Amino acid sequence: MLKCGIVGCGVIAPTHIEGFQAIPEVKITCLCDLELEKAKKLGEKYGIENCCTDYRELLASDVDIVSVCTDHASHAQIVCDAIAAGKHVICEKSLGRTFDDLERMTAAAKAHPELITAGIFQHRYEYSNIALRKLLQENKFGKLLCVSLNFACYRSNDYYRSGSWRGTVAGEGGGILINQAIHHLDQLRYLFGDVKRLCALSANLTHQGVIEVEDTAVFAAEFESGLMLTVTATNSASEDWRSFLTISGSEAYLEYINEKPSYIGSRDPARKEEIAAALNPEKENKKVSGKSYYGAGHTGQLADFVRAVLEKRQPLETMTDAANSSALILTVYKSAASGKWEEVPRY
Ligand SMILES: NC(=O)c1ccc[n+]([C@@H]2O[C@H](COP(=O)([O-])OP(=O)(O)OC[C@H]3O[C@@H](n4cnc5c(N)ncnc54)[C@H](O)[C@@H]3O)[C@@H](O)[C@H]2O)c1
Repeated sequence: MLKCGIVGCGVIAPTHIEGFQAIPEVKITCLCDLELEKAKKLGEKYGIENCCTDYRELLASDVDIVSVCTDHASHAQIVCDAIAAGKHVICEKSLGRTFDDLERMTAAAKAHPELITAGIFQHRYEYSNIALRKLLQENKFGKLLCVSLNFACYRSNDYYRSGSWRGTVAGEGGGILINQAIHHLDQLRYLFGDVKRLCALSANLTHQGVIEVEDTAVFAAEFESGLMLTVTATNSASEDWRSFLTISGSEAYLEYINEKPSYIGSRDPARKEEIAAALNPEKENKKVSGKSYYGAGHTGQLADFVRAVLEKRQPLETMTDAANSSALILTVYKSAASGKWEEVPRY
């Protein structure tokens, strides 16, 4: 039996608790939060007795796995300390909020290849994204021409006021991109590979006086493969959560809304049918807990992580891979500040 400890008992923690509790080989033995009451409340709900306020106490216990569910600014230190304590670690997005964070975390992970380290990007574990990636790998779209992602959601001033870290450079590291659109930017890397360079604009259009970071951003980019990309993202929209991805290939065209196909075009009816059958949304796995847009992927990702620990292999999404998605976002910020095309670093 693997023992697991959870650091951070806020909004996302129940999704991790329920995900780990669904795995027979895992027992959650400790919950930690700076506010003891938050840990105790979840402990009572999920039958976990041991609660503490100092994560170093959790690291000193006999847990094998540490799940980091705290704010962005605290991820790097907790992850590095957990690795130094010999624990397998899975950390929520965004892995870090500065290039320095990412450097430290990936260096610590690489120095301990015997430990399994991962960053949460649960949408990679959804049936539709896995199936879409397979279609792309099998060249079902023909030559890829260009890709666009438009993402719109809404975050109120009250949302930003609900946590002192939210909407700050030091605590969150950014706004719409590093917190909400990050899922879709990781999805782009999952589907199309690494981004080589990009040029961006960002602004705070509706949260002035409340946040220090962007609520809206756009960028143009080129993948390593040469494929062209445009992205627009805002959390000031009159819409809860909608991502709209279009893929234009020489043999097929796809419109993909909230991880589901909404339109498939092709001059070849057989190809169109083949893509539709492969992306059938009814095959999607069930969701566990949390908001609907969290999707069903946490269960799959936590299960893959635990299997990776048991089988001593890499998980599907490693910590280094997750760092590269955060690096893409930090490069958007760099370009928006410099007004220039910027190359995306790789960890
Ligand atoms: N994958 C997803 O879909 C998804 C959804 C929501 C949040 N998240 C991510 O999960 C993380 C947490 O977000 P949230 O919305 O739950 O935040 P939150 O503010 O609700 O909860 C964070 C908790 O961490 C605690 N904490 C902070 N520093 C700590 C420390 N050093 N030791 C112990 N506890 C500490 C805080 O007291 C707080 O209770 C963020 O990285 C966020 O981006 C991911």
